[in-house]
Amino acid sequence: MTESYSELNHVSDEPLVKESRVVNLGSFITPTENFYIRNHYLEVPDFSETTWNLEVKGCINSPLSLSMNDIRALPKKELDITLECAGNSRSYMMPQAEGIQFNHGAVSTGRFKGVSLNTILNLAGLKSTAKEIIFSGGDLGTEEEDGAVFSNTLTYQRSLTLDQVRDENILLAYEMNGYPLTRDHGFPLRLMVPGWYGMASVKWLVSIEAIEHPFNGFFQKNRYVLIPEGPEGTTLGEPITKLAVKALISTPRHGEVIHKGPFTFSGFAWSGWGHITKVEVSVDGGATWGKARLVNDQSDTAWSKWEFTWQANKIGHFIVKARAYDSKGNVQPNNVRWNFRGYANNAIQTIAVRVASGRQ
Ligand code: MTE
Repeated sequence: MTESYSELNHVSDEPLVKESRVVNLGSFITPTENFYIRNHYLEVPDFSETTWNLEVKGCINSPLSLSMNDIRALPKKELDITLECAGNSRSYMMPQAEGIQFNHGAVSTGRFKGVSLNTILNLAGLKSTAKEIIFSGGDLGTEEEDGAVFSNTLTYQRSLTLDQVRDENILLAYEMNGYPLTRDHGFPLRLMVPGWYGMASVKWLVSIEAIEHPFNGFFQKNRYVLIPEGPEGTTLGEPITKLAVKALISTPRHGEVIHKGPFTFSGFAWSGWGHITKVEVSVDGGATWGKARLVNDQSDTAWSKWEFTWQANKIGHFIVKARAYDSKGNVQPNNVRWNFRGYANNAIQTIAVRVASGRQ
């Protein structure tokens, strides 16, 4: 069944890519119909729970083949998780970077329920020689680069090192916002790696394999690496991992007309390196900054809502910016280091608003 996704902005049909409307990102949990979608391949699996199994294999003591009933019978864990695509805000990179031109809407937060990855790894028993774990999705396709076709005959695959999989918050999730995952969000099971860019959270998970050497798959080495200048040396870039500290202004929208008097700006801020400690807002293009209120309890896995009330006393145009700080001392920059594929753009967002005289 093809969904219409009338609440999302169109980015690409082949593969299906839709971004959230920033004005729809007002609530802490993003309703599923407003949650962005990023598929790499044209066709995505249409699994049925009755025929799907998760294979756990490789450098482990007890190979497993688990059905959804087996997985649901394991201890459950529910977490609010902010997912941001590494290509979010790519269209603001100057000069234009390679890739799908997302505005600021490739970020959303869901409530994910599943089982902790470590529960499964403990059942399987990793051998002492295991170094990395490969997570494979059930989607298949081809990728082209510099004229060469990479027949990614395996599937969409990503790996994590043993150090990285120790995080108890990594989930194998089967529910999102109280319902089974939808097909485009990875039904029946997906990996969720909180605090990492979205590429790590493999959808349509079909296998988990422990290996004794570093994994060199296409989406590990040819994509999701920071290439400073051009396409040369595509396998040599620094890999993208955790979310860079960032604030989003979701109210008002860019170009909105507001009325003289008090006005509350709001949005969210997140970082994969620590929790958000401060958000500041400027209404004069960055010359002066005021401290915003953080309105929800700090979460290790999800964004923080911020609000800033401004007394709009003068009519005219105003340039508004928001910048976030995290507990590891990271501050959002004015500009980011340009990179060939436009990943991890956390430059401060700027919007313009017009203040008009009183309400009608
Ligand atoms: N997993 C598989 N199997 N195939 C994919 O194309 N896309 C990744 C990740 N997991 C992808 C995948 C990327 S780049 C992102 S940003 C997130 O899924 C998007 O998750 P969503 O579509 O549920 O928002």
